[in-house]
Amino acid sequence: TTTTTLPPKQTMASTITPINPTTATEDGPLFAASLISPEIIAILPTDYTIRPLRRSDFHRGYLDVLRVLTTVGDISEEAWNARFDWIASRNDEYYMLVVCDGDDRVVGTGSLIVERKFIHELGLVGHIEDIAVEKGQQGKKLGLRIIQALDYVAAQVGCYKSILDCSEVNEGFYIKCGFKRAGLEMAHYY
Ligand code: ACO
Repeated sequence: TTTTTLPPKQTMASTITPINPTTATEDGPLFAASLISPEIIAILPTDYTIRPLRRSDFHRGYLDVLRVLTTVGDISEEAWNARFDWIASRNDEYYMLVVCDGDDRVVGTGSLIVERKFIHELGLVGHIEDIAVEKGQQGKKLGLRIIQALDYVAAQVGCYKSILDCSEVNEGFYIKCGFKRAGLEMAHYY
């Protein structure tokens, strides 16, 4: 009989191959800018941009935008950097983007987290999370553009669907974005 030689056991960390590793000295985009839909860039209000999250967005009001969504807490720059690095090392899984206004302030954000499954022939499912537009900037279609941009990323990276949870008050927004009610959310809080 022949003996099969197995490869040495790998740790989780050694199996992760970041596409765009970000180091403490860099301020590059979290993921490839080519994953941002050119059509969405073209139809934003004049002087507005949509792009991948960057480390320096800590200083452009990113966390304040998230505060329209829920509690954020008091996050130091050091804690932000540590979390940013963790996310950046998984940037084939975490796609977080921002909309900036003409003054280069972050005024909107949204995230796509890509789950890799065994079912559906190793299918990829996108989870849309933490969509937020600054109060004074709501109603300018920025939320819609963020969703369209995340849909584009999801399709480009090979997701067969994207799903999200929202409250009843936001159902109309997601219907305008083309989503349909499917199932029911249940939760355990810890
Ligand atoms: N109910 C019904 N329709 C809505 C709502 C709503 N709550 N919000 C927007 N719309 C409509 C708009 O009127 C517009 O319709 P139109 O095309 O006929 O003019 C369309 O949806 C697109 O609206 P936008 O201008 O793109 O929406 P906006 O930029 O204001 O962003 C958002 C919407 C993200 C819900 C914003 O109000 C917000 O940040 N809210 C607070 C945070 C929040 O609740 N985020 C969603 C959490 S759920 C999640 O993250 C998965």
